[in-house]
Amino acid sequence: MSKVKTSFFCQSCGTQSAKWIGKCPSCGEWNTFVEEIIEKENSKNSYKTSSSQQRAAKPQPLNEINLTNEHRIQLYDTELNRVLGGGLVPGSIVLFGGEPGIGKSTLMLQVALSLKKMKVLYVTGEESEQQVKMRADRIGIQNSDCYILTETATQNIFKQIETFQPQLLIVDSIQTLYTAHIESSPGSISQIRECTAELLKYAKESGTPVFLIGHITKDGQIAGPKVLEHMVDTVLQFEGDRNYIYRLLRITKNRFGSTNELGIYEMLGSGLREVSNPSEILITNREEPVSGVAIAAALEGMRPMLIEIQALVSSAVYGTPQRSSTGFDLRRLAMLLAVLEKRCGFRLGAKDVFLNIAGGIKVEDPGIDLAVVCSVLSSNEDIPIDSKICFAAEVGLSGEIRPISRIDQRIAEAEKLGFEQIFISKYNLKGLDVKSFNIKIVAVKKMEELFNLLFG
Ligand code: TYD
Ligand code: MG
Repeated sequence: MSKVKTSFFCQSCGTQSAKWIGKCPSCGEWNTFVEEIIEKENSKNSYKTSSSQQRAAKPQPLNEINLTNEHRIQLYDTELNRVLGGGLVPGSIVLFGGEPGIGKSTLMLQVALSLKKMKVLYVTGEESEQQVKMRADRIGIQNSDCYILTETATQNIFKQIETFQPQLLIVDSIQTLYTAHIESSPGSISQIRECTAELLKYAKESGTPVFLIGHITKDGQIAGPKVLEHMVDTVLQFEGDRNYIYRLLRITKNRFGSTNELGIYEMLGSGLREVSNPSEILITNREEPVSGVAIAAALEGMRPMLIEIQALVSSAVYGTPQRSSTGFDLRRLAMLLAVLEKRCGFRLGAKDVFLNIAGGIKVEDPGIDLAVVCSVLSSNEDIPIDSKICFAAEVGLSGEIRPISRIDQRIAEAEKLGFEQIFISKYNLKGLDVKSFNIKIVAVKKMEELFNLLFG
């Protein structure tokens, strides 16, 4: 038995230190150092003994390395395949994070159940077999190649893996695992790091892809050390408002493809359903137009979609006017309101402004600025905007209407959904083949110009 060694780790970024320190030199957080027992010496019963240490790698010319044997495993989930960049890469390790109750276990179980003719091992440290079975019954897919293992010790998991030889491993969740090499409790930084390292070694040596479910903290980070995200190949985030049925699958890191893709799901009574046409569900079909509503032709990742922005502007009841926003950055809203006030002369300083993006989704695309501004103005003037009009432009600090990326994709999406007019920036006209579209494209340069066209 080797001597027990202890060390201090920053709970926020994972920095190690021999002594306790008040302020982390790496991330600058205060009071985050916690003593943990580490016992690195006896690592004899981790996953196999590494053969890679004996076989020294030789340098190879880059253009002699061939990629022909790189194939991807197609999951029966087109959204997930697309987000991963065309399927799952063998031997890759994917970290899948999200808030509790958002549907991580559901999506992973669905993936496991739909993969026919592939042995899948679903390791759960969070739920009993019965609970997983109940979820599987709700999802309603039968599959005799999907196995459940309730276990939290990595050594036992690897023992099972050696006899079972799965072709896909799912771990629910990394925070519940523990390795006997370290004595700190499951979920601590050193345990998470060590368990991930063992799984990583397993994935790389056996070529088996691994999905790791990870909890996230209050502020939306994956719980555990930041190094966890560095270790894995791909990081997926599942987000959405639990009170709504839509879920967005984002990719924040991808070693095998772009991070621009976005997947959209709908949580139903029988599991998650892929949403192939998001625009249709995010726009309310109203009989009569109402004021304070504007449609934005937004881009989420690479995906164009039309979303509804709702604003309510009313006289402030109390001295200080309120500004509140759901799904849109509050500081950006404040900036847009300041532009309207200073550059365009609208008196919004004494008004309450509430902004909401329909469907409970969060949008960061600056291309929705114009729709935000128009919904605010429409509510302020109490004049509805025609429901066949949509907007796609950014608003600058001087009130100018600025060009945005991928304008042609946005226009095409608006046209496809039957919109009759789209307002864009004049600067976006360069290189745009206006005649190829069957929708009226109105190019504007200044806020005043737009105001006169819409409400004048
Ligand atoms: P779950 O996958 O357990 O979330 P996580 O693993 O991210 O914590 O599922 C969360 C919620 O989804 C749960 O409250 C119930 C709901 N749900 C459905 O609405 N339909 C279903 O078919 C399933 C399985 C779950
Ligand atoms: Mg779960």
